[in-house]
Amino acid sequence: MAFTPQFLDELRLRTALADLVGKRVRLIRKGNEYSGLCPFHKEKTPSFTVNEEKGFYHCFGCGAHGSAIDFIMNIEGLSFPEAVESLAQQAGVEVPLDSPQERERARVRQSLYEVMDMACVFFEQKLRMPEGIVALDYLRGRGLDEDTIGKFRLGFAPDGRGVLKAALRRENITDEQMVAAGLLVQPEDKGQQAYDRFRNRVVFPITDKRNRVIAFGGRMMAGEDEKKLAKYLNSPETELFHKGHVLYNLAQASNVSRDQGTLIVTEGYMDVIALSQAGFENAVAPLGTALTEEQISELWKVVREPVVCFDGDTAGVRAQGRAAERALALLKPGYALRFATLPAGEDPDSLIATKGPEAMRELMARAEPLSEVLWRLETGGRLLKTPEQRASVQKALEDHARRINDPTVRAHFSKDFKDRIWVASSRGARKLAPTISIGAGATAVAKIDAHALQERILIATLLGHPELFEQVGETLGTLQFSSPGLDNLRQEVLKTLADKPNLDTEGIRRHLCDNGFSEMLYNVWGPKFFVNAFFAKPETEIETALEGWEEVYALYNNSDLRIEIKEESQRLIDDTSSENFNRLNALSEQKLKASKGVE
Ligand code: UTP
Ligand code: MN
Repeated sequence: MAFTPQFLDELRLRTALADLVGKRVRLIRKGNEYSGLCPFHKEKTPSFTVNEEKGFYHCFGCGAHGSAIDFIMNIEGLSFPEAVESLAQQAGVEVPLDSPQERERARVRQSLYEVMDMACVFFEQKLRMPEGIVALDYLRGRGLDEDTIGKFRLGFAPDGRGVLKAALRRENITDEQMVAAGLLVQPEDKGQQAYDRFRNRVVFPITDKRNRVIAFGGRMMAGEDEKKLAKYLNSPETELFHKGHVLYNLAQASNVSRDQGTLIVTEGYMDVIALSQAGFENAVAPLGTALTEEQISELWKVVREPVVCFDGDTAGVRAQGRAAERALALLKPGYALRFATLPAGEDPDSLIATKGPEAMRELMARAEPLSEVLWRLETGGRLLKTPEQRASVQKALEDHARRINDPTVRAHFSKDFKDRIWVASSRGARKLAPTISIGAGATAVAKIDAHALQERILIATLLGHPELFEQVGETLGTLQFSSPGLDNLRQEVLKTLADKPNLDTEGIRRHLCDNGFSEMLYNVWGPKFFVNAFFAKPETEIETALEGWEEVYALYNNSDLRIEIKEESQRLIDDTSSENFNRLNALSEQKLKASKGVE
């Protein structure tokens, strides 16, 4: 859509910039200018200014700069025409359109928005009438309260082929308009009457970024499975609705998301709604399809690191993998996706219903970076023992990395994947001492001492699988860890598990937190930790966990020996006594044995 320069000028003139900005930012007047905290970057002292007279804002902190139109585009994530339209509406000026065709199209669109809103009101009203009682009971039965039902404008489409049609006809809406809006189905045989698309369903209105209703999803109610209808029926593609571009609840979620800096992407309408009722108003969902590129771009307009939280079933895991792959090509510095993996069989809705909002918060805190998800996708959580396994995983990961268009991000992913293969292969890990790299996504690569890292892994694996106490408890009991803090933790874990052998991961974690170990625990159990030792995670099968533990223990033992051997060799150089020679020999033999255990 093209706008004339005259019109844009007029729009700028009619818009009070300080008022517009003032809705988002607390401004203080200083002479000709206003100043406040910049909404485009985090700051404690104001460096953001608005010059009403000149019609622009400027931030001396981050360099953000522009007109009213830029401000709306950036703050609301709208495109240029969308921002112009929104400003024009606020200023009460008509957008002049270029061609008669454009004008006609805009008129049709405008009328369709109105038709959709009328339908939405109709469904909402029906939910409150006697015929809607089953639907209302259904929604209440799923735990939704009045506020939530109202906030999401949930409704009921009565059972009949002409109920909505008759109602909207009374409002002078034509059948053609209703068909164009996707509300009626027009049979191929044009001689036949168009009929209501949504019948006897609970209705979820789908809105665009400006919260205008553009489509509906209709859910059948319980007890109807025998009819073999699709669980959800959605509006078809229309002039207003392009499924792959829309995210359910984006308009309502984005304001909250921008404030909180997080955005949750779930799979379904009900997840979004249940989350909202539980206080997570920052959730959206694609409409039953894999996350599209357009949708990923929309997410990034709101926050830099949305968290994908799909269902914990095979379909959800597959959808997660597809989202990860699709996001790769689009990655750019500073933008990412994180993934929170639900327990099998749960979705956010059920998690909140059974375990409460705290469980959701914890899940979000443990969300993993994209690289981790791809790694698990390719390794399936197994150790890479043979060169063949390593080669095939490396190839697959390289293929993933190659799909990243941005060269900087691509380089970091390649490096991260190489590090992981190195760490996961026992051969590589053995050569890693004295330093080992922790790849934390593409961003931070920290180096910490291998010895201390191995100690943490030994503890973490046990924490993730307390039932391993039987096999590893005794060995752990003979060790002494290098730092007093870590060693205290080791002793506490052993003591606790000896007393209460039936504790699960959550139980022991809580015990440790209650006893002042929470900070120490974060060190061995923080979100970035598992990159090194996926087998420590509670989800990993017990055999794999034990294998991993033993492998790390062998390394640990071995590196201990190596230090001793080094010291002993030095002693032998200084003093070539046979006693020293024999000691060195014994150590070397021990080392040989230990490394055989590793193979
Ligand atoms: P789910 O089956 O997970 O739906 O599908 P849900 O939202 O959690 O709903 P409940 O809890 O079962 O009632 C996820 C999304 O896939 C789309 C819908 O957008 C749904 O929200 N879907 C699902 C369809 O479009 N059609 C279907 O038949 C099923
Ligand atoms: Mn679901």
